[in-house]
Amino acid sequence: MTSELKQALHVKKTEQTIPSSDFLSNPYPTYDKLREKNPVYKGNLYKQPGWYITGYEEAVAVLKNTKFKNRIPLPESSKKYEQLKNIQNDMMLFKNQADHKRLRMLVSKGITPSMIESYRLYMEEVVHELLNQVQNKGKMDVVMDFSYPLASHVIAKLLGVPIEDRQQFRDWALSLVPTIDFTRSRKTLENGNEQTKKLLIYFKKLIQNRKQAPQQDLISQLILEEQQGIKLTDDELLATCILLVIAGHETTVNLISNSILSLLSNPEQLAMLKENPSLIERAVEEFLRFESPTQMTARIASEDIEINGTRIKKDEHVYILLGAANRDPKIFINPNVLDITRSPNPHLAFGYGTHFCIGSTLARLEAQVAIQTILQQLDHLQMGTPDPQWRNLIGFRSLKELPLTFKAVSKTNSVLGNEF
Ligand code: HEM
Repeated sequence: MTSELKQALHVKKTEQTIPSSDFLSNPYPTYDKLREKNPVYKGNLYKQPGWYITGYEEAVAVLKNTKFKNRIPLPESSKKYEQLKNIQNDMMLFKNQADHKRLRMLVSKGITPSMIESYRLYMEEVVHELLNQVQNKGKMDVVMDFSYPLASHVIAKLLGVPIEDRQQFRDWALSLVPTIDFTRSRKTLENGNEQTKKLLIYFKKLIQNRKQAPQQDLISQLILEEQQGIKLTDDELLATCILLVIAGHETTVNLISNSILSLLSNPEQLAMLKENPSLIERAVEEFLRFESPTQMTARIASEDIEINGTRIKKDEHVYILLGAANRDPKIFINPNVLDITRSPNPHLAFGYGTHFCIGSTLARLEAQVAIQTILQQLDHLQMGTPDPQWRNLIGFRSLKELPLTFKAVSKTNSVLGNEF
């Protein structure tokens, strides 16, 4: 690897290797360099030896091949993160074949398109309420004042978590997401383990509660399936709740925040969307492609497999850079240009194949409602910083904050009381 590429990718730290600030603020030139060298590139980036996939067709070929297993083990087992390890073992994301199929089928039954559409009104109410709270101030941090509370409310409603407990979701997600990122250190894992213990206590109690008094929520439905003899162990039920907190929360926060950033950085696209609200569905697809919330996923080869003429050997690790595949010029014309009218737009932001995101319809709707309402309700949108900062993560495109200013107007009355 050239020293230039090495430099772009990382700087050394004591325990782990962390990405450079240039890479964090704009990873796409590095992806381009990797793809130009080889879309199936063998390397040891961030001290993770394996194959780095930056080409779109190659990414699809790996993701649709079930001989690549979805499991990258945690570093050498330690008692200090045993709970985290056990719970990850029971998550559908890290299961394969029959076990994966069974768990996925059970959860899919609880997240149907008609059920998601019934959430539209709730999302609209939450969005209006959150905007009402800042409208007279003329400024907000999109990440903390808007995207996080919205995503927490929706995922918590889906699971059936009481309103007063929803605030905790943010802390849980913030400490658990880094445990599945390249940048994870021992400290991150130990901290994630502590949070997992708290989550286990919380969800055990909630599940017990729902067993006694079922409600209209996903946990009650999964308990019913368990009781009807469809095999789902108590541990798998717990792991599913925790997976949904991680998978369904942070990613949606990032989609909404990154979309607003993309619009603020492309004022002509912002004006076009404001004038043509019917473009919202296409626009959200483009935001998913342009700043993909999940930038990377990983697999292990269960046998020798050939991808694009390259032999990947049994047990080798494969890192699929979704954010790079989504900017592959072989598939997307002018890939580094944000074009909210882009069609077709076959991006891989939700993955591909058997593990394709189960919450994609929910996330799409949430982003559509959120972005459209911001554009309708707030005027003179301007970015409050010339240099937005990104979290130190490689697998997720996640802003630390996104200060936004707009025209202040006097507040309207709250429709939902003080629950926010
Ligand atoms: C913009 C928001 C979201 C993005 C970008 C996203 C992205 C992804 C990706 C890339 C995968 C595939 C991972 C792989 O193949 O290794 C995935 C899987 C998954 N997602 Fe999402 N996701 C989002 C929102 C959600 C939501 C809202 C939920 C829950 C309601 C959810 C639940 C899941 C689950 C359970 C899986 C595992 C599916 C399986 O293993 O079969 N996601 N997501």
